Amino acid sequence: LLDPQTIECPYDFYANLRAQAPVFLDPISGFYVVSRFDDVREILRDPATYSSDDLQLIYAQINRKQAMRAAMAFTRRGWLPARTIIARNDPAHRELRIVFDRLFKSSRIASIEPEIEQVATKLMRPILDKGHCDWVAEFAIPMPLLIIGKQMGANEQDLFQIRQWISAAAKRFGLMANDEEFAQSVNSEIEAQHYFQPIFARLRTTPDDTYLSELVNTPIEEWARPLDDRELLAEIIWDFFGAGSETTTSALASGMMLLIQNLEILLRLKADPGRWLKPFIEEILRLESPIQGTYRIATRDVSLNGTTIPKNAIVNVRIGAANRDEGRFERPDALDLDRDHLSMHMAFGAGIHYCAGSALARRELFWGFKTFLARIGSVRFAPNKNDFAHGRSYILRSLNELHIEFDCESSV
Ligand code: HEM
Repeated sequence: LLDPQTIECPYDFYANLRAQAPVFLDPISGFYVVSRFDDVREILRDPATYSSDDLQLIYAQINRKQAMRAAMAFTRRGWLPARTIIARNDPAHRELRIVFDRLFKSSRIASIEPEIEQVATKLMRPILDKGHCDWVAEFAIPMPLLIIGKQMGANEQDLFQIRQWISAAAKRFGLMANDEEFAQSVNSEIEAQHYFQPIFARLRTTPDDTYLSELVNTPIEEWARPLDDRELLAEIIWDFFGAGSETTTSALASGMMLLIQNLEILLRLKADPGRWLKPFIEEILRLESPIQGTYRIATRDVSLNGTTIPKNAIVNVRIGAANRDEGRFERPDALDLDRDHLSMHMAFGAGIHYCAGSALARRELFWGFKTFLARIGSVRFAPNKNDFAHGRSYILRSLNELHIEFDCESSV
């Protein structure tokens, strides 16, 4: 799975894993790779046996030298990243999650829905005028970035710099970075830290009505204090800008690819978006899960599907493999808007760490595709321009670019 060619199109490999080695000890990474739906779900729902505590240690375990260099650089020139919410167990996880649930509650998402639509419409205008675009660069990247940026109170002109820092920083978590990319990743995160920390300081003395201000100033009840700088930096960089934009970008991009590969659904989507966009979005998430895998650490020797996973082993659950499990989904590789239990997939995880931003992501996907479909008659891949290559990452699956052409029915 660390082979770039396998990662580029992992689905046959996943099918072999599910059939022949559903709990597979990868000799290169040392991870126990789990690929069947029921096993992945069992792991994600059992945090006592499969812990999320201090998941950052995984990267240290893979390459100690790189990890030590990173720790030194952060300590000397920035802030040593604290654990994010994903890398915490209950009760600390639950105590922090209350703040996230308040920020992303459905009434709040409903209140920003007009902004989501406005951002989609604004980005669509120049694209429609041209009749062609790189959907990734011109829509899938900026849309979620502008929305999360606005909620965090970031200046619009700084957003693309922020994304560059975060994309570079994320490289080291993809487990496929060479030494140079690893160093660049750490430097980028330190630059982002120096951008955000003065904003926290300002918001502590002058709060405003942004998510960021609320996060900076709201005490975690059981901790009797708000998050400190190290904790805030980790959350902002990874859970808001990282989790909140890269994943949705990935789904917008692969969704367009799937749409063009399955053009027979275009008429249905256009005729009744209120009815068909939801199933379409769930199928995008299932078929091309943006987060292909996540990790847990075994807290005891545990037997799964006939394999013993030893205490302290790293378990890599392949969400992308579970979501195409033939034991759970009929014709798992087909996009099927009529399938039962469309949202049964685990693209947003399961159990206590189920994605805090899933409602926001689903509304962004809805408005992204609705705005486009309302104005176009037909759409196709631009000839000779696409290689359909994905970024090199063990975790995130995302198209680098997607060149499309379309015929417009109406302007925005
Ligand atoms: C299509 C878009 C998205 C996908 C596929 C996705 C996927 C996931 C997955 C699989 C997890 C669980 C990881 C684990 O259990 O180890 C997760 C957790 C999380 N996601 Fe998302 N996510 C998306 C969008 C978002 C957005 C828009 C935000 C916020 C702005 C967000 C914030 C979070 C946070 C804070 C967690 C940690 C929750 C916890 O530990 O309790 N995500 N996401």
